[in-house]
Amino acid sequence: MVVGSVLVTGGTGYIGSFTALALLEADYKVVIVDNLYNSSKEVLNRIELICGKKPAFYEADMTDEAALDKVFAEHPDIDSVIHFGALKAVGESGEIPLEYYRVNVGGSIALLRSMTKHNVTNIVFSSSATVYGDATRFPNMIPIPEHCPIGPTNPYGRTKSTVEAIITDHINAQRNNLTKKGEPGAEKWNAALLRYFNPSGAHPSGVIGENPLGVPYNLLPLLAQVAIGKREKLLVFGDDYASKDGTAIRDYIHVLDLSRGHLVALNYLREKSPGVKAWNLGSGRGSTVFEMIKAFSDVVGRPLAYEVAPRRAGDVLDLTANPTLANQELNWKTELTLEDACADLWKWTENNPEGYNQQPPKEFVDA
Ligand code: NAD
Ligand code: WQD
Repeated sequence: MVVGSVLVTGGTGYIGSFTALALLEADYKVVIVDNLYNSSKEVLNRIELICGKKPAFYEADMTDEAALDKVFAEHPDIDSVIHFGALKAVGESGEIPLEYYRVNVGGSIALLRSMTKHNVTNIVFSSSATVYGDATRFPNMIPIPEHCPIGPTNPYGRTKSTVEAIITDHINAQRNNLTKKGEPGAEKWNAALLRYFNPSGAHPSGVIGENPLGVPYNLLPLLAQVAIGKREKLLVFGDDYASKDGTAIRDYIHVLDLSRGHLVALNYLREKSPGVKAWNLGSGRGSTVFEMIKAFSDVVGRPLAYEVAPRRAGDVLDLTANPTLANQELNWKTELTLEDACADLWKWTENNPEGYNQQPPKEFVDA
């Protein structure tokens, strides 16, 4: 029995593919729109290998409103969208900010316009802990609660806070306008703004994982490249922070916990009609860069080469979530550990050194 139909933008990407899988496993129908800018269609086969179902797929650009109209017209059963599609490299966003605003903000406006025309009323949005900027500028804001004032420090982060504001304004306007006109359905307009901390890990089967098409810039994918021999060493960006070992602190959350967070947030919107809500999705546990190197080295079974380098521009000391609101309201908390994320990432890397440009792991094909 299908419980609902969901459009997933950016659904062939890292977090989108895990969420598509979680939705299919929960008996949702899934329709993906992605232009494959940073992903591969092969992930659709891999999802099918794991759960026996394949999402519908449209290769289309999110900024193309007519293309989105066509998708909604062909799937009138869709009542909700999970919106991952975006450009996400913080450094690059400082070099080509207009492109980031065009895709991330322009694509979101096209999506909201198309949703509205087709009466698709629930949206779950991929926001980011980066909207908080440096929360250590306030007393008592680490771990970071949702009421911490936002203050992104780079164009990518500003696209996320801008889209949060646009979604909030649009959902509230839809609710107010329908109520004023005395028309039904105001309560159907809902949004979840999910602020993720540092997504990490892969599927424990080793069949799906993160597959960045260019050079990775995140810590764990870089460490995995060192471990598999594609990179000589990791550069540790700064050991002069005010932390226990001098390196910066982040809240690493397993991508399976994160994708489950999307499912529970979507169910909450559909069942409780709360209007607009923001939730942190993090573990509440902070780890330093040195602790991450140790955790990943332990899984690999040998030390991994690193060298301390200067701080990276724009980095902050500590981004650790206070996930209490999601714990209480969504009944969601992380279940997997950092060690699980490292073990699953290593299995994915060993099985798929070339990512999706190769056959799936043999034991899966034979199964
Ligand atoms: P990803 O790059 O793997 O996935 C994004 C997907 O969007 C890709 O498949 C890409 O091809 C697609 N896309 C890009 N531009 C598009 C366009 N114009 N039209 C259609 N599709 C387009 O990234 P991810 O790590 O899975 O991130 C998913 C979302 O979560 C993004 O919105 C990102 O900003 C957000 N986020 C990511 C992290 C992280 O560290 N990975 C943290 C917080 C928030
Ligand atoms: C983690 C820690 C680095 C690489 C970014 C975005 C954020 C979100 C998640 C999208 C930091 C250190 C890293 C390296 C290092 N994405 N590091 N050497 O910067 O916390 O967050 O990804 O929304 O918005 O800003 O993640 O994995 O790049 O870095 O020492 O080669 O590892 O300094 O302390 P970050 P990251």
